[in-house]
Amino acid sequence: MDHFLYRNGVLHAEDVPLTEIAATVGTPFYVYSSATLARHYTVFDEALAGMPHLVCYAMKANSNLAVLKLLGDMGAGMDVVSVGEYLRAKAAGVPGERIVFSGVGKTRAEMETVLAGGIRQFNVESEPELYLLSKVASEMGVEVPITVRVNPDVDAKTHPKIATGMSDNKFGIPIARAREVYKLAASLPGVKVIGIDVHIGSQLVDLSPYRDAFRKVAELTEQLRADGHEISRLDLGGGLGIPYERSNAAPPLPMDYGDVVRETVGHLGCEIEIEPGRLIAGNAGLMVSSVIFRKNGEGRDFLIVDAAMNDLIRPAMYEAHHDIVPVMEPAPGAAQSPVDIVGPICESGDTFTKQRPMPHLDDGDMIAFRSAGAYGAVMSSEYNSRPMIPEVLVKGDQFAVIRPRPTFDEMLNRDKLPEWMQD
Ligand code: LLP
Repeated sequence: MDHFLYRNGVLHAEDVPLTEIAATVGTPFYVYSSATLARHYTVFDEALAGMPHLVCYAMKANSNLAVLKLLGDMGAGMDVVSVGEYLRAKAAGVPGERIVFSGVGKTRAEMETVLAGGIRQFNVESEPELYLLSKVASEMGVEVPITVRVNPDVDAKTHPKIATGMSDNKFGIPIARAREVYKLAASLPGVKVIGIDVHIGSQLVDLSPYRDAFRKVAELTEQLRADGHEISRLDLGGGLGIPYERSNAAPPLPMDYGDVVRETVGHLGCEIEIEPGRLIAGNAGLMVSSVIFRKNGEGRDFLIVDAAMNDLIRPAMYEAHHDIVPVMEPAPGAAQSPVDIVGPICESGDTFTKQRPMPHLDDGDMIAFRSAGAYGAVMSSEYNSRPMIPEVLVKGDQFAVIRPRPTFDEMLNRDKLPEWMQD
């Protein structure tokens, strides 16, 4: 469920007509619903009720400061994968004790900043990282809580570019070698083993890979405890999928996911962490765009819109489907005909969809891409010197621009000519 519904013939974000936002900020833009973000966080929190837990929002999905503050103020922790994300989480008021640091390539400089600022735990992904972290923490005179990310070798049955839990992925250490690595970790200064981390992939629409992975983690917990390690926290990662196509069967709900957690690791008495990103932000956002031209080709009609692959790269990168709806509600039973919806960028890959049945739309009409709140704005670029599009947050009948569109001067002034070119 989300808060993007037609009212009086116009698509709204909560109580605000999208036409009103468009009149203020121009198209294209991203718009997020506070109520949807809050609801998705709460649903996860409730799904883990009865177990000590922390929902650490995977902020890579959408790291706008206002989004982070909304979730942080509700009590969410944050899963960060770079010092940039860490500093954003801090700037949004999230304390270090609610931030976990994931990622395969943490640098010394990142470790230093994060250790100085305070952190709940590092999710360590390799032995070289373990050695470096031990060294840096010891030099700084601190002892940092760690989990080791294990790779359980289960097939998450998702797009290969976002599956992470198979043995040929770069993530974590093979679960078969975990006991050895925990032994090493326990022998090193500056790091304190407190748990296990696992994340098997993103956009999972089936719970069985979770069940398999979490069972392996439960087994490993018992083994590591028998080896004398303190395992009091399990970070189970993120990845629960969202319905991108409303016409398809809905993926499992956070409640069902919570049941899998309870059933597989609930008996271990561990504190549970999860790192959902997409499910919290994805269906809390739309990208709104206008048709520049309707171009009737030979046997194929195109809608050339003012958003492009630099604004929302998921269709070009993962062949991802986004539902696309007109901002003005079509008359019931309005005729539909297939169109290709494309951006203005000089690449054929700049295609959002091919031959999608749509009601008739013409120059100037607006459309909304659904499920664009996660991995939308954060993955955008200025390719073709296109300004990054603004982000807007709605709360009830209010809206605010939470990232303005840069001016062309701002964009130009970021480049510097070397001295020898200046006359
Ligand atoms: N934790 C870790 C360690 C992760 O690598 C990820 C996502 C998450 C949590 C959050 O997963 P989520 O709940 O959002 O599925 N750009 C791609 C998705 C990449 C996901 C990367 N890791 C897309 O647009 O589909």
